[in-house]
Amino acid sequence: MSGEAPLRAAEVALLVELTKLAPSGVSIGCRSIRNGDENLLLPEESRSILSRQLEARRASGAARVIARQLLAQEGIENAVIKRATSGAPLWPPGFVGSLAHDDVIAVAAVGRRTEVLSLGIDVEPAEPLPEEVAAIVQTADDALVGVDERLASRLLFSVKEAVYKASYPLDRIVLGYEHIAVDLKARNAVTTSGRKVRFSFCLFPRIVVLADVPLP
Ligand SMILES: CC(C)(COP(=O)(O)OP(=O)(O)OC[C@H]1O[C@@H](n2cnc3c(N)ncnc32)[C@H](O)[C@@H]1OP(=O)(O)O)[C@@H](O)C(=O)NCCC(=O)NCCS
Repeated sequence: MSGEAPLRAAEVALLVELTKLAPSGVSIGCRSIRNGDENLLLPEESRSILSRQLEARRASGAARVIARQLLAQEGIENAVIKRATSGAPLWPPGFVGSLAHDDVIAVAAVGRRTEVLSLGIDVEPAEPLPEEVAAIVQTADDALVGVDERLASRLLFSVKEAVYKASYPLDRIVLGYEHIAVDLKARNAVTTSGRKVRFSFCLFPRIVVLADVPLP
């Protein structure tokens, strides 16, 4: 099998699961991160991303090319998705979205503002979270019932990252893990600032969480 074939197979396997996550009006995609994906950043995007590390720029390029494709399906060609100084991605007028990447794959979600108020996405390997990290992420307000115990902490971590990404553009508040209470069974979370966020997730082949704040 060539080097490209396993990358495509990984994308297809994840995409099958991702398409089940998106609520109405939201599109979602993924891309295996390839050598050279840093060159997919448009010049304005590249200038807005201060990281000089090649791996980080490569992942950002992969995530943006997915988002660009999703926006093109909505009629927005060649969208520029710069990074704000806060780190949040800047979407074309009328759209919301979110980006994430781990070491091997990038994901993106996009929706129209008329359909959804805000989105947050996260991707993680489907592996247990180191215990010392899990101890920081989980608080007494989190309910983890109903999920494979070995992956519950990693999933909780991923949910909090996705919820943060969905809430930040609305509230402009930097949250810590202790500021987000998650109910994995009910698929909802609330921040200490009172923001209520829904989420959906898959565990395999990777953990992906899609958080959304619905219209009022
Ligand atoms: C947002 C954050 C959680 C992302 O985590 P990460 O593991 O570094 O990276 P991910 O791959 O999951 O996500 C990266 C994407 O998050 C997005 N992002 C970064 N800051 C963001 C913010 N304030 N609001 C919304 N999205 C943001 C960007 O699109 C970024 O993609 P880019 O690097 O290609 O531009 C992290 O950058 C951060 O700001 N942390 C501070 C707050 C925190 O960690 N709190 C504990 C969790 S609740």
